[in-house]
Amino acid sequence: MLGKLIRKKNVETEPLISVELESVKSKHIPAHVAIIMDGNGRWAKKRNLPRIAGHHEGMKTVRKITRVANDIGIKVLTLYAFSTENWKRPKLEIDFLMKLPGEFLSTYLPELIEQNVRVEMIGNFDVLPEHTKNAIQRAIDETAENDGMTLNFAMNYGSRLELIQCMQEIAKLATEGKIELEDIDETLIGNNLMTAHLPEPDLLIRTSGEVRLSNFMLWQLAYAEFSFTDVLWPDFDELCMINEIKEFQSRNRRFGSVNEEGDA
Ligand code: FPP
Repeated sequence: MLGKLIRKKNVETEPLISVELESVKSKHIPAHVAIIMDGNGRWAKKRNLPRIAGHHEGMKTVRKITRVANDIGIKVLTLYAFSTENWKRPKLEIDFLMKLPGEFLSTYLPELIEQNVRVEMIGNFDVLPEHTKNAIQRAIDETAENDGMTLNFAMNYGSRLELIQCMQEIAKLATEGKIELEDIDETLIGNNLMTAHLPEPDLLIRTSGEVRLSNFMLWQLAYAEFSFTDVLWPDFDELCMINEIKEFQSRNRRFGSVNEEGDA
């Protein structure tokens, strides 16, 4: 109920969003959008605030973008929330980032349930602090029956680690005689990644003007469209997201083939 009221209010108070939303919904929608949420620290620095204030504001953007992505009709939204390399950050910042899933989910889980959103996670779950694991697990359990958009948090995720674990799993199958060398193909690899149950991302967005992948979904992004925007994550709003989808809709995806005009 709460989610419905909030969404209704949004549409009433922000007619531009509602018009733009209808426009993108009439064209091809990417099934899976993956986002590298970058620029929280710079957003805070510009305001003479501590970096954690930027992360907190970034959490509010997660709420906004989840809602609009769901309204657009995106099936999977993967958000890079914490990488295997982020453990190198100051302890205070790590502790704060580990508390954010708990704060986000205790505040917004009812809304996510109302919106029929299913929460999932990719990454190395076991080594997360207990309170982080509990918050994520509770959200996963309470939304398991939902069949709307999947909100997939990449938390303590690193693509190279994922690929190492995948190769180890496949090597194990081979040494146990369960597969032959010829059985190793794209499907087998895909099925042994943390994203095995998800479609590959169609669109990757990175905010804040940085133009790199930072160990994010290296295998899965092979044929994704990339979009790099200068907007800092806390400033990335519904219209920014809608514009990203419009940009995606203007791209000509050929997957290595040629288009109808014969252009490569
Ligand atoms: C990168 O920006 C951002 C992160 C490492 C953390 C992203 C996390 C959030 C946006 C909040 C997540 C919310 C939930 C609910 C899990 P940066 O700090 O590197 O920015 P900078 O490059 O400007 O310093």
